[in-house]
Amino acid sequence: MMKEPASSLGPITYDLPDRPRRNRRCESLRRLVRETVLTPGDLIYPMFITDGSGVQIPIGSMPGICRWSPDLLLEQARAAYALGIPAVALFPALSDTLKDRVASASVDADGLLQRTVRLLKRELPGLVVITDVAMDPYSSDGHDGYVDGDQIVNDKTLPILCAMAVSQAEAGADMVAPSDMMDGRVGAIRTALDEAGFTGVGILSYAAKYCSAFYGPFREALDSAPRGGDKKTYQMDPANRREALREVRLDVAEGADMVMVKPGLPYLDVIAAVRAAVDLPVAAYQVSGEYAMIKAAAEKGWLDESSVMLESLLAIKRAGADMILTYFAMDAARSLA
Ligand code: PBG
Repeated sequence: MMKEPASSLGPITYDLPDRPRRNRRCESLRRLVRETVLTPGDLIYPMFITDGSGVQIPIGSMPGICRWSPDLLLEQARAAYALGIPAVALFPALSDTLKDRVASASVDADGLLQRTVRLLKRELPGLVVITDVAMDPYSSDGHDGYVDGDQIVNDKTLPILCAMAVSQAEAGADMVAPSDMMDGRVGAIRTALDEAGFTGVGILSYAAKYCSAFYGPFREALDSAPRGGDKKTYQMDPANRREALREVRLDVAEGADMVMVKPGLPYLDVIAAVRAAVDLPVAAYQVSGEYAMIKAAAEKGWLDESSVMLESLLAIKRAGADMILTYFAMDAARSLA
């Protein structure tokens, strides 16, 4: 009766029809059955630009990320491309003296962004250069659209965005990425690009962009926080998923070439829903706050940075993203090499 203690744990073998663990017995088996694979080719590296030369300004809440002057940004982009990262997304940080209510600086052919795009396309013609279309880096109000009193005026913003997109295309941008969330901007920008002869310049639409507190560190990086109010009348309510599909379908109908969900990890359900709803490539943006959280926990020794970085990116891809904008692009590409 009282035999060895093991008997109290039950019989030696159970008659189990399914044993999922068999497929996990060794790394080679696990590789064979792996459903999602992350590669450097999935990554887009968002980069902040500052004027000058030889300038590198670290961003406090984003350890490892800097504003680079164009010459140093080129070297970073060169390293990213060499690691297999196919694209960068550029965000210029302008001094307040260049900002006004109508984002005039955004169409300066010799502006910081335009000069940087030309430099990158000349030195690294194979690297895809994506430029952001929204007023906030150029606006004295810090909003993505034109401000009149307490209103963000949709239809007054559209021509400003169109001119901005054409100026970016003239500089050599491969894709423009409207992140402003005005209604009708994708169609308006498509028409403006075509009329200017840029039929080959694509639109990566921030289609489902939520009004998220996870953008905090980015606004520090660009010093682009709204001077008054918030972005709730144009960015989406985090509570809504069906509305994301409506936004995405509109952007597809208006001519988007790719659609984006933003932020990433807190919105995996939205990424999955968008993936199921459209045939276009889907991008996701692992935003500044997502990056900052992982970095901060790793600095405290509470999380293993590299593992959590790769797991978070894999999760975003598993949810349905074809590509991911991430500040971890360089680190992830190095880990994956
Ligand atoms: C602005 C823009 C934002 C981000 C990308 N483009 C900030 C905002 O909408 O306030 C956020 C990116 C990030 O947090 O990493 N049009």
